[in-house]
Amino acid sequence: MTHPRVDALAGEARGAVEAAGSSADLEAVRVRYLGRQGAITQLLRSLGTLPAEERPVVGAAANEAKRELEALLDARLADALAREKSAQRARDRLDLTLPGRRPPLGAVHPLTRVHDEIVSIFGGLGFSVAEGPEIETDFYNFEALNIPRDHPARDMQDTFYLSDDTLLRTHTSPVQIRTMRAAAGRTPVKIIVPGRVFRRDVPDASHSPVFHQVEGLAVDRHITMGDLKGTLELFAREMFGPKSRIRFRPSFFPFTEPSAEVDVLCFMCGGAGCRACKDGWLEILGSGMVHPKVLRNGGYDPEEVTGWAFGMGIDRIAMLKYGVDDLRLFFDNDLRFLRQFS
Ligand code: DAH
Repeated sequence: MTHPRVDALAGEARGAVEAAGSSADLEAVRVRYLGRQGAITQLLRSLGTLPAEERPVVGAAANEAKRELEALLDARLADALAREKSAQRARDRLDLTLPGRRPPLGAVHPLTRVHDEIVSIFGGLGFSVAEGPEIETDFYNFEALNIPRDHPARDMQDTFYLSDDTLLRTHTSPVQIRTMRAAAGRTPVKIIVPGRVFRRDVPDASHSPVFHQVEGLAVDRHITMGDLKGTLELFAREMFGPKSRIRFRPSFFPFTEPSAEVDVLCFMCGGAGCRACKDGWLEILGSGMVHPKVLRNGGYDPEEVTGWAFGMGIDRIAMLKYGVDDLRLFFDNDLRFLRQFS
């Protein structure tokens, strides 16, 4: 059954279906013609207003047009949805041949590296690692080490005092006393003590209120300064390269007698003299034969045993080794600095 008005409307609807490019367009066409306000729906609803003889013809034609349009829309919609789904899949496809993203690897902090290296070198020489508290008593930090009451290091300027008797240790040397006492007279003692130390310094390129030292202590039946020299020579070669040389300069520390400061031949200029070393040598540590009073404070008889000790700054050695000219760089945690050590 056909009717010109219905045919025109059906033709228009088919044209709209042909023009629709997507499932959304097709849905819009469905609403426009078959929705509650749609043109074909309205036509069917208005049949009652038509002259009686037209009603069956228009009604049948409109119903047929409606069924045809529904079938057409269903078919096209199924096609459009399938097309859109496969386009989506193509967009989402993973290219499994692409190289992966490498997770950024951190770097060991230069101070930790130097610490580990020192521990490893002395470990190879039979030294074990000892530790002591960062909060110390006046006795262990000064008194037992033969540092007299009027020594400048005891000055309020240099030491962080927590009370009259407790302080933040200013060096790792108090662990010498603690270790000797714990050994209760046994020999040999061969320890190194890496740790944090504290001084009331204003931070600048070469000062920090917190820095790091490694103490060394050997106590045995009559070990000599020759053993000390041999040990430190070996250390310098491992740390700074096989060609490195050291020299001993007479010095003074209250806890050693005799005392020496140890320099390493400047590895930047080879000893000729440069901005870093001035005279061709770089000071790396203090050392000496343990003072008899210190041995006695550690529970040993200085007639029976001898000892030697040394103390070096981890931060200073790291600065020398890596050519870092400002101590603060180690504590700023600036990634641009730290990444250079990966
Ligand atoms: N304790 C000294 C300081 O902090 C370093 C030192 C010098 C340690 C000589 C020693 C030593 O064991 O024998 O400056």
